Amino acid sequence: MGTAVVTGSASGIGAAVRKHLEGAGDRVVGVDLHHAEVEADLSRPEGRRAAVQGIRGETAGAIDRLVLCAGLGAHVDDLEAIVSVNYFGAVTLLDGLRDAMAGRPGASVVAVCSNSAQMGPFEEHPLVEALLDGDEAAARTIAAEENGFIAYGGSKHALSRAVRRRAAEFGEAGIRLNGIAPGPTQTPLMDGAKAHPIYGRGVAALKVPLGRWAQPEEIAELIGFLLGDKAAYMHGSIVYADGGNDAALRPDQF
Ligand code: NAI
Repeated sequence: MGTAVVTGSASGIGAAVRKHLEGAGDRVVGVDLHHAEVEADLSRPEGRRAAVQGIRGETAGAIDRLVLCAGLGAHVDDLEAIVSVNYFGAVTLLDGLRDAMAGRPGASVVAVCSNSAQMGPFEEHPLVEALLDGDEAAARTIAAEENGFIAYGGSKHALSRAVRRRAAEFGEAGIRLNGIAPGPTQTPLMDGAKAHPIYGRGVAALKVPLGRWAQPEEIAELIGFLLGDKAAYMHGSIVYADGGNDAALRPDQF
């Protein structure tokens, strides 16, 4: 039992995480555009600043668990917003709230990345480099010239690397930090992708060895596990929960 902060808490996976953590006795401070304790637009620097400030106020600067879940899907028309929310909306809060978690027993963070992070030429992509350099203006310009597939996968690839790059610093501060890479999960985001004339076809073609999509509650279970003491030695990992989708596409890489 403690204080948890969940971004994207109003819908889908974030809403399922909220319910899961409240069921375990946590007080949850939700962060979202609407229907949350802290209402803020994470696509904008001023919204992110307001979010960090609002969270500090709501938690009195003491956070036990942080789940970075707010995100936009590849089908969204505003490609610039995809990279701003998915990358900067996560990393700004991660770094901005680190001191509120440092030294608290069992402090733990999960960033919701995606198995899309390995489904494209992202390793040395200029978008990923701009994101990791913290250059939001350049990242937004590159994203606007690309497509939703690159903007989304690139933002999640960079977020996964941002998690791993911070393992040393967060570990020293006594904060466990992991990412998860979900595959297709039945949420409003995926409803939007399915309905899109182009991305809908891509989503329909996804090969998932388990033969079904995840329910958001299944992803929330994994997040709850990673946040808890039973995962006490897990740190700096990106954990896949995708029904085998990534293994089917990249059987010889892990
Ligand atoms: P969702 O659309 O149901 O929920 C996303 C939440 O983020 C919404 O409540 C939305 O209001 C919030 N959000 C969006 N833009 C925001 C902004 N500018 N400021 C503040 N909040 C904002 O989506 P879902 O599927 O639950 O996704 C949650 C996370 O999981 C996302 O990061 C997504 O990329 C990731 N993910 C989802 C998968 C899926 O198949 N559904 C697969 C892999 C990763």
